[in-house]
Amino acid sequence: MDSQFIDQPLAERIAKLCGTPVYVYDRATIERQADILLSMPNAFGISVGYAMKACSTRAILEVIRNKGITIDASSTWEAERALRAGFKPGEISLSAQELTEEGLRPLAKLGIKINACSLSQIELIAKVGFNGEFGLRWNPGIGSGGTKKTNVGGPASSFGIWHEKLPAVQALVSRLGLKVQRIHSHIGSGADVRVWEKAAELTLRIAAVFPTVTHFNLGGGFKVARVPGEKGTDVHAAGTSIRDSILRFHSETGRRLHLEIEPGTFLLANSGAVLSRVADVVDTGKEGHVFVKLDTGMTDILRPSLYGSQHPIVVLSGSQTASEQVSCVVVGHCCESGDLLTPAPGINDELSERTLVRPEIGSLAVIYGAGAYCSAMSSKNYNSFPESPEVLIDSNRDIQTIRSRQTLDQMLQNEHPLV
Ligand SMILES: Cc1ncc(COP(=O)(O)O)c(C=O)c1O
Repeated sequence: MDSQFIDQPLAERIAKLCGTPVYVYDRATIERQADILLSMPNAFGISVGYAMKACSTRAILEVIRNKGITIDASSTWEAERALRAGFKPGEISLSAQELTEEGLRPLAKLGIKINACSLSQIELIAKVGFNGEFGLRWNPGIGSGGTKKTNVGGPASSFGIWHEKLPAVQALVSRLGLKVQRIHSHIGSGADVRVWEKAAELTLRIAAVFPTVTHFNLGGGFKVARVPGEKGTDVHAAGTSIRDSILRFHSETGRRLHLEIEPGTFLLANSGAVLSRVADVVDTGKEGHVFVKLDTGMTDILRPSLYGSQHPIVVLSGSQTASEQVSCVVVGHCCESGDLLTPAPGINDELSERTLVRPEIGSLAVIYGAGAYCSAMSSKNYNSFPESPEVLIDSNRDIQTIRSRQTLDQMLQNEHPLV
């Protein structure tokens, strides 16, 4: 995969600068992925938002902002963070599972965009006197995702307003005097163009009911392949099918809908890696396994423990010849059997072996596909390991530290001794 952007000399420079484990992001890959999204086929215009939950570190947000991409925030905290990174209120769209009056009121006043995800959120939005761009996030009845945990549509999902609530929503919106400008749905993560088409068709049926709607947001979920054998989304093909649906809607209704998408994974997943060192190598005898323990794990990359997700792992060979290989299980540094970096695909608690260059204690190892939902979604500070630093590699292969390693004092700063 061309996403393996860290060779031995670069790895050594990074490790010398800030130790291991460390997140490493490749700016050129983020920008290349952004360009693919920005040129997605569309009927009446397209806007790309970044689902910042994928990786919310300030400098990453700034790289994204420089590409003309706006923000999808999933909490009022994320919206505040985007403001601090320099996004304007009108460039932030909020779709949240939890919305509080005290969190929402100041943001509503500033004029961010909001997608209500439930009937009670519609009431709250009216209560805080919101008069910015108002949308409705729907669960159109179907979902998509490699695992049940990444599927966020259909009857087993709590995300968005269930499509059968349409009459109740219409009545509520009209009673509260709100103007719906956007219909939104995000059903999960998938590469199948037919699922994108179906999601678009179902969501457009809802848009047809609200004559004031001008924007059609299909969320994120453009799956990428992290390991060989996984299928990534053909963005051009998905875009073409969505465009055709919007054109059909136009010929039936005369309305020209602006398309919005808000991917996270597609921008960041293969743009980031975790650089670590082998902390130990042990084995459990002939009937067992060779276990390679890294100085990272669920404290930096939780996805394998959570979803059984697959990440390429490369041991940098150092002085050895690449022919010295070993089949082994790779685990993290936490006292937790679930801290497993090579689970069976989709089965988070089943060991599987990988063939790697024979690792020695101290060897550098890179876990790829770790740009999205890793730094932002780790079980940080478990076993009191500090939050890892992050660096950004630019096109000259210069290394910029974009987050420092957390100190023990920072980890403890909000604790108080017993009185
Ligand atoms: C509303 C919404 N939009 C966009 C995304 C981004 O999804 P992905 O990272 O798969 O592109 C998510 C992810 O959960 C989401 O909930």
